[in-house]
Amino acid sequence: MNRDKKFFYIANWKSYFTYHQSLAWLQDYDDELGVLTKENTIILCPDFLTLAELRSKNATITFGAQTCSSYGLGAYTGEISAQSLSELGIIYCIVGHSERRRLFYETLDESARKIGMLFRNAITPILCVSDDYKTELNHIFSNMIIDFSAHQCIIAYEPISSIGTGFVPSSEKIATTLDLIKQEIIRFFPENSFLLVYGGSVSSLTIQELKTIKLLDGFLIGKASTDFQELKKIVEYK
Ligand code: PGA
Repeated sequence: MNRDKKFFYIANWKSYFTYHQSLAWLQDYDDELGVLTKENTIILCPDFLTLAELRSKNATITFGAQTCSSYGLGAYTGEISAQSLSELGIIYCIVGHSERRRLFYETLDESARKIGMLFRNAITPILCVSDDYKTELNHIFSNMIIDFSAHQCIIAYEPISSIGTGFVPSSEKIATTLDLIKQEIIRFFPENSFLLVYGGSVSSLTIQELKTIKLLDGFLIGKASTDFQELKKIVEYK
């Protein structure tokens, strides 16, 4: 068990809440969340409207975006640019989540362009990869125009069969995959220390086993992060 290790926790709220529900949640748990974030790094990723509303008001919470445009400013209807996120002081952004790939057809080229945009705006990408990480990382790393080695990046390993299903692979299997992902990163960027997180059915029931995995720096939490008591249990489990 990594008892003293300081993990970080990325709460991906997806589209679980309406704007008003998000604001109410944050108001209801304002004090308790304040206590939790004092000791732990929690990156809260609500929808864009909530981000814009709260970023300027709540100085204690670290916010992240769930995606961003792969383009800069210009004629790109409906897009939210990395520049806008940067203006709000957002310092993290999820890229290439499997739901975006499957439902909104985000390609690996787009993910690479998004990472470039984020780097240019001093935002740390949280790049999601699946069990096909070799193809994904190879494609993205070799299509990057900007040098990765000068920037921080978080890689989130999310097995597709674990997202929203309650199924989590064994800690041995996750550790082996993380090790292979790390080797793949080192092949491209020997100097860079990427952070590694796991995502997919992280909950108060699965966290005990997950926290034993040495290579892990943190967790990407979907559904369970929308329930404050669940989130608290995940964060506080030692
Ligand atoms: P889940 O989602 O925790 O609800 O499985 C994780 C994710 O999709 O990032």
